[in-house]
Amino acid sequence: MKINIVKDSKAAGQAGYELFKEQLENGSTVFGLATGSTPISTYDAITASDLDFSNCISINLDEYAGLPDTHEQSYRYSMNQHFFSKKPFKESYVPNGMNDADAEIVRYEKIIAENPVDFQILGLGQNGHIGFNEPGTAFDSRTHKVTLTESTIAANARFFDNENDVPKFAYSMGIGTIMDAKSILLEAFGENKAEAVQKMVEGPVTEDLPASILQRHPNVTLILDEAAASKLS
Ligand code: F6R
Repeated sequence: MKINIVKDSKAAGQAGYELFKEQLENGSTVFGLATGSTPISTYDAITASDLDFSNCISINLDEYAGLPDTHEQSYRYSMNQHFFSKKPFKESYVPNGMNDADAEIVRYEKIIAENPVDFQILGLGQNGHIGFNEPGTAFDSRTHKVTLTESTIAANARFFDNENDVPKFAYSMGIGTIMDAKSILLEAFGENKAEAVQKMVEGPVTEDLPASILQRHPNVTLILDEAAASKLS
């Protein structure tokens, strides 16, 4: 793993932007994207730039089950707001949270098989999840329906009026699907990610800490702020 420790999320945004730029220059055309708060500084740096994704495809990691794309907390809505409305791709895929799970899983895996991901950006859950793959998810999992853990629901409640409004299920690329990406960038900021970062980098590779599998990927870069890196030895 290549580890880049930066001062804060703004500096991380610039560092993340540089990696996207390099990927484009090297001919990458399929970008796996994440939502949540972490990648926003990178997306802001990209959308403020002259990078051109109009010949590229984006494939998002995950989506809440049961939220329509018009819901402000749906990941499709968030991606439109922060990225696609400002910097369009030729095609942008996000799981459809309103589709039946079985059909959506097949549809999404087919999209990924037809468009292998060149570069995947990830955030990190406080419990070490990547995508919505919670602790205990099989390392060889493909796109699947996920039951969100109490800790993830609690962490995401800040975006909803009421914790009861947070969906209990999501559709997510699996860990096996994520590991198929040719190159991966994981970003993590803040002290509340420090323990998961330490275990991801220095702990055993275990399904109890999904991100630990990244130790086995040949091409991973971490962009961490100082707080998230503070427990690394
Ligand atoms: C979202 C995703 C999640 C988040 C993680 C961190 O698409 O895949 O794994 O990256 O929950 O969320 P934030 O960035 O909000 O701290």
